[in-house]
Amino acid sequence: MNRMGVVGCGVMGAGVAEIGAKGGCDVVVVDMFPEALEKAQARMAASLAKAEEKGKLGEPAANILARIRWSSDLADLADREFVTEVIRESLDDKVELIGRLDDILSDDAIIASNTSSIPIAQLAAASRIPGRVLGTHYFNPVPVMPLVEVVSAIQTDPSVADRTAEFCADVLGKKVIRAKDRSGFVVNAILVPYLLDAIRSLENGVASKEDIDEGMVSGCGMPMGPLTLCDMIGLDTMLLVSESLYAEHLEHRFAPPALLKRHVEAGMFGRKSGRGFYDYS
Ligand code: CAA
Repeated sequence: MNRMGVVGCGVMGAGVAEIGAKGGCDVVVVDMFPEALEKAQARMAASLAKAEEKGKLGEPAANILARIRWSSDLADLADREFVTEVIRESLDDKVELIGRLDDILSDDAIIASNTSSIPIAQLAAASRIPGRVLGTHYFNPVPVMPLVEVVSAIQTDPSVADRTAEFCADVLGKKVIRAKDRSGFVVNAILVPYLLDAIRSLENGVASKEDIDEGMVSGCGMPMGPLTLCDMIGLDTMLLVSESLYAEHLEHRFAPPALLKRHVEAGMFGRKSGRGFYDYS
């Protein structure tokens, strides 16, 4: 597989496009919002410039960028072999998108979802070819974090999962783990309760946000504190993820704390909106 498509170019989508182009693929990125495309191009140029400066690229960043086309038209994905959807974490939006991709792509193209919490079976059921749908869950920042979780739904054709795992390892340069189709897969089922506990600690007045973060960085060797990480993931995303996990498992540890909901209602989404638990303005 060499012709890759990416739908949705927020932070995660731009990251997936970047590793695809870095792996030598011809990449088409589609987002219906022109300003999102512009932002993603700037973000990717900065990310590649940083990698180039640190000697992490095997070729000039300009060559990598030249392998990417940017578009607002889904029809530009018609000849793609491997399409990853990285749109917002909404079942309705993803189901609608998969239906539209079915009309555009050839029958042997693979549709991968970067969902972090929606069961893949629900997405596969939205396709007229359910066997071609699976999950590829990346981690933020995608060009830096080595992992991808490859998730098969009960409908996924095993050869689609095998080809995807091989592609992620050999072309995208990722470490692959296989996970069952349970909301949260391996990593978020463990990580999200930890992050929600940090929010609950702040809510309960256990310590200041700075001390909660310092505790986990200096006490446990985490690369960043949990509240800083929540801001990086996006508090709106954190809320959607915890709601999906709670709906699936019905366990208190996945329930969104009121403080998280209040931040989202206030438009404080974290780094991307300039303010979350911390102020980035
Ligand atoms: N391509 C390749 N390498 C790149 C790069 C690129 N585009 N951009 C940066 N790098 C490299 C840098 O050169 C640097 O390498 P060295 O360590 O060899 O110098 C390395 O990546 C780190 O980059 P920075 O120096 O910019 O960053 P940092 O040292 O301040 O670390 C961080 C930043 C990587 C984000 C680190 O704080 C970290 O690991 N934080 C935790 C992130 C995490 O937990 N992510 C998962 C979130 S959960 C999720 O995503 C799932 C979900 O569904 C919610």
